[in-house]
Amino acid sequence: MNLKDLYIDYFVSKGHKQIPSSPVVPENDGSVLFNTAGMQPLIPYLLGQPHPYGKRLCDYQKCIRTNDLEAIGDTYHHTFFEMLGNWSLGDYFKKEAINYSFEFITKYLNIPLERFAVTVFAGNDLIPKDTEAKEIWLSLGVKEERIAETVEDNFWIAGETGPCGPDTEMFYFRSDDPVPDKFDPEDSRWVEIWNNVFMQYNKDKNGNITELPSKNVDTGMGVERVVSILEGVNDNYASSVWKDVIELIESMSNVTYEENSESMRIVADHLRTAVFISADKSGIKPSNVGAGYILRRLIRRSIRHAKTLGIDVNSNWEEVLALKIIDKYAKYYSELTDNKDVVLEVLRNEKIKFNRTLEKGLREFEKIISNIDKEIDATSAFRLYDTYGFPIELTEELAKEKGLTVDTNGFKEKFKAHQDLSRTASSGMFKGGLAGNGEIETRYHTATHLLNAALKVVVGPGVHQMGSNITEERMRFDFSCDHKLTDEEKEKAETLVNTWIGEGLTVRCDEMKKEEAIASGAECMFIEKYPDIVTVYSIGEISKELCGGPHVKNTSELGHFKIIKEEASSAGVRRIKAVLE
Ligand code: ALA
Repeated sequence: MNLKDLYIDYFVSKGHKQIPSSPVVPENDGSVLFNTAGMQPLIPYLLGQPHPYGKRLCDYQKCIRTNDLEAIGDTYHHTFFEMLGNWSLGDYFKKEAINYSFEFITKYLNIPLERFAVTVFAGNDLIPKDTEAKEIWLSLGVKEERIAETVEDNFWIAGETGPCGPDTEMFYFRSDDPVPDKFDPEDSRWVEIWNNVFMQYNKDKNGNITELPSKNVDTGMGVERVVSILEGVNDNYASSVWKDVIELIESMSNVTYEENSESMRIVADHLRTAVFISADKSGIKPSNVGAGYILRRLIRRSIRHAKTLGIDVNSNWEEVLALKIIDKYAKYYSELTDNKDVVLEVLRNEKIKFNRTLEKGLREFEKIISNIDKEIDATSAFRLYDTYGFPIELTEELAKEKGLTVDTNGFKEKFKAHQDLSRTASSGMFKGGLAGNGEIETRYHTATHLLNAALKVVVGPGVHQMGSNITEERMRFDFSCDHKLTDEEKEKAETLVNTWIGEGLTVRCDEMKKEEAIASGAECMFIEKYPDIVTVYSIGEISKELCGGPHVKNTSELGHFKIIKEEASSAGVRRIKAVLE
């Protein structure tokens, strides 16, 4: 039986309700671009809100981690992966959680105790050692020398703040070597297969730890890794998760996986992630900001590696692979079938766009490096970006392959100067924008934040501000969006803004470190543009943006908001003109 089905069946038999996988782009959490763990959509419930499905939950969750995107190419990194999880929201705690894990691992996955080991929390100044977890493992027959105590690796939190707690991690000895008696978590032959977090604390932004209203359990098991273990392979890409996709790439390129494993893994991994992002209900499209930029990088990098493999990148290779991937996962994720056409269109359009300049860009790259022996200068890197559509990370990767570096800081300077310039041009040489600080402009300024938040609700979280211009008579707001707004969307956005105005929401201004602001989910246009200490304006609970102000104190000061026009601004960017009456 399939691992996902086996897992869900087991936990359902133990009184858990299966909850559906949430979209990869979080719906109500602006602090991350993608769900990075199964618990992310459950944060409000771990913090105390009752869950409509009850106190025992289980699921398989689509996750995306792009922090080590450049590491893809080895045997075990993936940008997209599936995480199995079971949760107790103030119901059972350590004893039952560990018992379930142990029974599932030894009786259902048939992993021999001989190859099994665990870590438990060793304790620190704030939180005591987890002797209870250790006792439970011992009582189940796990030997003392197979239980290691650590501090750093046995305390789990998603990011900087939120629900957290000590955890106990389970390991499997994945190697043909004899299994050592004593478990060493630093020995890479021991691979982590499951994590049980005992979430009983909350960490705030000042680092204070407080008790949560209830003691929860949050667990996570990576599907790709466990499948490869169950199938006895030491390379995740050799398991049934990937095998047929890799074979397809082999037949398209006429070269072998053995000799081209790195590029093949990159193509397979990146395309799978791009398929899942494009099929997501958030409607993310390739762009130069946020999640859209990650999508663009994934597709462009996979095209470049497909080309390296000798695949004709002008053919419909990406469609063939995407259809294979959709087919493999359709049973578990219906959005793949529902949004198949969108996925294929996103991939095809981005391919066509990039292919137009890829060849010339690569030639330009060769020309650039023929004259240097160490570092690619910022002007050249910017030319590759601006004229040939090479994300800076792609230039860095190409450079690294040749033993060269890139002046990335210089590139960022140029990027910023370019953005400032185009914004200056589009704001009518400072005629409006934020230059006027009169009372009326201030009201309009707050209205742009409300409109931005409303469009995120109505059109999707992929909407980002691309520019704004304010005069005493009206506001203009440019935003990323791939379609003309329907009358219904316009009406909804307008109504939402007026509702918020009617609610008389307080506008608050906080100063904080730029990193903190970003981590807290504050919206910003271009991160490079902001100083280290920034001001963040929050409007009630509905909007949070990095911004220099000024703003009104309360939304009730705005009057009635009315959209008077919606039109195209440039490719992928729409423009709304609106007035306050
Ligand atoms: N949230 C825990 C993890 O992702 C289970 O490892």
